[in-house]
Amino acid sequence: MARKKTVRDIDVAGKAVLVRVDYNVPFHPGTTDISDDSRIRASLDTVRLLSSHGARIVLCTHIGRPRGRVVESLRVAPVANRLTELLGQLVQTLSDDDGVTASEQISLMHPGDVALLENLRFHPEEESNDAAFAMKLASLANIYVGDAFGTAHRAHASTEGVTRYLPSVAGLLMDKELEMLGQALQEPAHPFVVVLGGAKVADKIGVIENLADRVDAFLIGGGMAAAFLKAQSHEIGASPVDDDELGHARNVQALAADGGFDVIAPTDVIVGDRFDSEAESSVVAASGVPAGWLVMDIGPDTAARFGERIREAGTVVWNGPMGVAEWDAFANGTKIVGQALADCAGTTILGGGSTAEAAYNLGLADRMTHVSTGGGASLEFLEGKDLPGVSALLDA
Ligand code: 3PG
Repeated sequence: MARKKTVRDIDVAGKAVLVRVDYNVPFHPGTTDISDDSRIRASLDTVRLLSSHGARIVLCTHIGRPRGRVVESLRVAPVANRLTELLGQLVQTLSDDDGVTASEQISLMHPGDVALLENLRFHPEEESNDAAFAMKLASLANIYVGDAFGTAHRAHASTEGVTRYLPSVAGLLMDKELEMLGQALQEPAHPFVVVLGGAKVADKIGVIENLADRVDAFLIGGGMAAAFLKAQSHEIGASPVDDDELGHARNVQALAADGGFDVIAPTDVIVGDRFDSEAESSVVAASGVPAGWLVMDIGPDTAARFGERIREAGTVVWNGPMGVAEWDAFANGTKIVGQALADCAGTTILGGGSTAEAAYNLGLADRMTHVSTGGGASLEFLEGKDLPGVSALLDA
């Protein structure tokens, strides 16, 4: 993918700059207390650079999936408050509902001021990429900055439509994500090890197919490991694996046989007697999952072997926890794999979403080369797909 022009390459002094960020942050259940502000922190370099160069900064984001309606619990106010604390500067929220239009409020801003538009997805036109809505967003500013890597796989009015009406460049976060993920894919130092977990092979098959020509080993954990065990004719108890999943696992094994790379499935697993945090658990050989039990984590021998491959790697990409990491009894595989990445001297890249969350919870995130802010977006990038929110930006 061609390099993109960035905020470093343009003159923003005195200009209104519309910056699409991804402040789709998680909240503690039932509250508006942000439980993980890493996406807000990840935007600070861009905001500070624009501010120090005298731009008037109009940030915009979605939060959650309100489906075109105003949902009180998904307002941007808590995010504006957190950003105010992090920047040490007031960030006002803007919407047309306050009597004064957003556009009038922006005209009153001073160089270096920062404001945040209300949740874009309160408008159905955002997700339908409505041209009039995109034009209205564009009318608020002189320049557009795409810094929402986490939403770059969506062709929405604020990620793609708006770029038709304004000169559009990448923010510093977008630039960093593209550089780090791009480097890992284009010039991986070998051994190149890709660690995949999560529920389903179907969610990762695109990544496996795209990386098959350059990877040395895929290490398979998570719920999806059960499909690979079944493909090896093991009993998998009550683990849910349908025919499609089994088919994907068999295809991957056939790809590996032709392609000269390893696909390493668990040789031991931790099973639970039901899908519950309090489930009874036991370590068993991968060939010995008892009837009625479910695969809930990779076993200690598997985790140790995965750890060895990871520590010796030149490049590691990790996407998907190794087990049900939010429950203590089934978190060990994810912990050992996370620790091995932290110890690895090579380049270590984490996909966002639950993998990033696991790394933050383990206190290991700052020992990785790069933790992506994109969940779905980083997966699509690893699948080799074009991201509409990236393609729409000017080439360098
Ligand atoms: C994410 O959290 O992956 C992004 O913010 C995109 O959100 P979406 O899946 O609701 O489009």
